[in-house]
Amino acid sequence: MSQAVTSGAKVSLTGIKPTGEPHLGNLIGAIRPALKLAEDYDSVYFIADYHALTSVRDPEELRRYTRSVAATWLAAGLDPKRTTFYVQSDVPEIFELNWVMSCMTGKGLMNRAHAYKAARDRNDESGEEPDAGVNMGLYNYPILMAVDILIMESDVVPVGKDQLQHVEYAADIAGSFNHVYGKSYSFKIPEPIIPDDGNSQTLPGLDGRKMSKSYDNTIPLFLPEKKLLKLVRRIPTDSTPVEEPKNPDTSAPFQILEQFGSAEVVADTRKRLEAGGMGWGELKNVLFEVLNTELAPLRERYDALMEPGSELDTVLAEGAQTARERAGRVLASAREAIGLPNRARAREVLG
Ligand code: TRP
Repeated sequence: MSQAVTSGAKVSLTGIKPTGEPHLGNLIGAIRPALKLAEDYDSVYFIADYHALTSVRDPEELRRYTRSVAATWLAAGLDPKRTTFYVQSDVPEIFELNWVMSCMTGKGLMNRAHAYKAARDRNDESGEEPDAGVNMGLYNYPILMAVDILIMESDVVPVGKDQLQHVEYAADIAGSFNHVYGKSYSFKIPEPIIPDDGNSQTLPGLDGRKMSKSYDNTIPLFLPEKKLLKLVRRIPTDSTPVEEPKNPDTSAPFQILEQFGSAEVVADTRKRLEAGGMGWGELKNVLFEVLNTELAPLRERYDALMEPGSELDTVLAEGAQTARERAGRVLASAREAIGLPNRARAREVLG
């Protein structure tokens, strides 16, 4: 059996959909944990622009979000020498394997996918045709995601809870292929990991609910100072008067502070809130200072990367090249196993 093409460390892979401006919740919930994993794994992180196509239809928007997400990860500390970092649509091998894996995937499996089922339920409720508004991209989404994962021989896939089913599907689909062709080539079976599965990963947003683009309650990462201050002031608090003791653990601004402040600042602020005498307004000033200090250097790097002709383009071009080499080796093994022509041999014949 020919296995793992790459050698050494285990592979950690994740995809980031460019569907909005990156916000504080992304940094805490996805970017930082993934960068931490990159210290111990052969890490493969990419911008899933073809996945975004199921919803983003404005070319300018897709371009901007794709660059913006890439610049954000680099500004946050992703080291492209250490992590294979690329844009999905730059790697055509993924789409060849996508067809192959579609042929290994039961339609029933796709019928049961959460996102598709949710769309059907909504149609049901509003008395529409069952598949109204559902394009084949939405329907096939889990197969493309499985290919993203399998073509890079991923061992682990750090994702949010909402993506668990997709990683399970990737394992299922790999299993179907392996069942048929496993004697000559087997895909590695990936496992999901939810980085540090605790509350620490959930940041409250501007309405107190989890910070999420779908709730429209986010604090974008790279705001000019004045706007940042304005948004911090909008974070909800209760009406406990200044002099009264307060419970930091039910306070949204304090929960955000916990993620960004130094241990000293957090402990000191907690003490002062619990003792009474510190008002929510003052807490928000502390939070603003902490955020602004933390984010200022990232913002500067981000702005530089967003300039046309910055090193961003080089980084992504080099990432695409590495990704294509990796994907190409796996695709060649899969093609061989299936009985498709060997391209390397064809090139030799042509000389
Ligand atoms: N579906 C993921 C999301 O919406 C993005 C994604 C695409 C992904 N391909 C992936 C995540 C592969 C992990 C692995 O967030």
